[in-house]
Amino acid sequence: MTGTYSDEIWWKSAVVYQIYPRSFADSNGDGVGDIPGILAHLDHICRLGADTVWVSPVFKSPMADAGYDISDYCDIDPLFGTLDDVQRLIDEAHARGLRLLLDFVPNHTSDRHPWFIESRSSRASPKRDWYIWRDEPNDWRAALGAGSAWTWDEKTGQYYLHFFLPQQPDLNWRNPEVVEAMHGVLRFWLDRGVDGFRIDVAHCTGKDPTFADHPRCLAGEALVDFNDQPYSHEVLRGIRRLVDSYPGDRVLVGEVNIRSTASVLQYYGAGDELHMSFNFPPLDAPWDPIVFRTCIREVDTLMRPADAWPTWVLSNHDNVRHRTRYNGSLRRARAAAILLLSLRGTPFLFQGEELGLEDARIDPDRRVDPGGRDGCRAPLPWTEQPPHGWNGAPPWLPFPPNPGQHSAERQWADSGSIFHLYRHALELRRASPALRLGDWEEIDSPPEILAFRRRYGDDVRLVCVNFADRELQFTPPGKWRAALYSEGGPAAGTRFPGKLEREQAVILEPET
Ligand code: GLC
Repeated sequence: MTGTYSDEIWWKSAVVYQIYPRSFADSNGDGVGDIPGILAHLDHICRLGADTVWVSPVFKSPMADAGYDISDYCDIDPLFGTLDDVQRLIDEAHARGLRLLLDFVPNHTSDRHPWFIESRSSRASPKRDWYIWRDEPNDWRAALGAGSAWTWDEKTGQYYLHFFLPQQPDLNWRNPEVVEAMHGVLRFWLDRGVDGFRIDVAHCTGKDPTFADHPRCLAGEALVDFNDQPYSHEVLRGIRRLVDSYPGDRVLVGEVNIRSTASVLQYYGAGDELHMSFNFPPLDAPWDPIVFRTCIREVDTLMRPADAWPTWVLSNHDNVRHRTRYNGSLRRARAAAILLLSLRGTPFLFQGEELGLEDARIDPDRRVDPGGRDGCRAPLPWTEQPPHGWNGAPPWLPFPPNPGQHSAERQWADSGSIFHLYRHALELRRASPALRLGDWEEIDSPPEILAFRRRYGDDVRLVCVNFADRELQFTPPGKWRAALYSEGGPAAGTRFPGKLEREQAVILEPET
């Protein structure tokens, strides 16, 4: 039960770094990132101070959805490397004190998965019922611009269901053989030592058994945005029991893609489903104190009483990067870093946000993703000079703007860079139980300043974020000295002067 977890359970204090392998680092010069590329750059993550890595899918895949269409869950796509490479990654991560999470995609396979090939071979196939076949479609809509969630299969004269592309048929989790096969996949990776999984669209495995039309689909929305069926919870409870039977506090982080904290909370179950779930309202939030305040208050009022540990995420591989959402402002991205790393809950960083990357601008002839998500998936620039560490074929997508200035090399060398800001903030977080685990309490402040106290026992920190584009006066009760400004401001360690520059954030410590 969540209520009995010790505060010191590792994933509560963790800071997770998401690697999108295609764009992280290329070792073999084919223009696509790979696992040896990740191995070669693990030190970047250690230097930053994140302690857990989540790797987006590297499994065998025809790549209709960049690896989220899997044709073998227990093997690695040659584009990324081999099973041995992944074993090395698990071992090398552990040797550096990093934990490693893999992506688990339970809702659908690729249409080239042998299970689906068998299922579609005939109505009498022993695997026919591993997927969802119907004589008549209903009005359900797929995501990624795919239109109807049903595709007609000429040979067997039925429609199959897919919440995403037609190349991603949905598994039927009501079939016990599917449950057993997918649990086998989890065991395969748990036995190899992974520390847990990020579960893709964790709310989608249960389908409405009545197959009723849905008004929101008729209005043009995709099912993934609101599918919320009791059976998804049963699926998660089964996965949780399996994962809990392994030693070492393995963790399940679910992608519950419903933009409602109240719904997301349901996926923690009674401490018997997800350990943590993404909560995406902040991922859509513009640079606006009212929107942020509302999201954060809601997490606190709903999740804390339920003993559900929150997560915070501003960017990922499916959404426009937050710096780009904040009109390209690096200043805002720096203030947001202080906020992200000092809220109550586990932060998830998306590769490149520590370099201050913006989305790449992708010309129409370079577009790859049917869902239009290429901009945030652009390659990481490693070296200042072109080809920025991508030394063979040009990378599969163009670089983000100003790759030299935002290269890891340049960011490391510049002590005032956003990289060092993230690094400092993570250092402060590691050293302070209040920042890692403490209560969160809002304090009175002008409307454009978000100010809160974190407290754990005697350890106290205050965090203030000025969203306004002008300097504001603010004197919190008590005497405080600055531990870290997002940028500018007086020297760290000096007394907080009771004002914040425009779009500036600060972490304060009590004056002793
Ligand atoms: C999740 C993934 C996304 C993928 C989709 C289908 O939302 O994050 O990249 O396209 O699931 O697997």
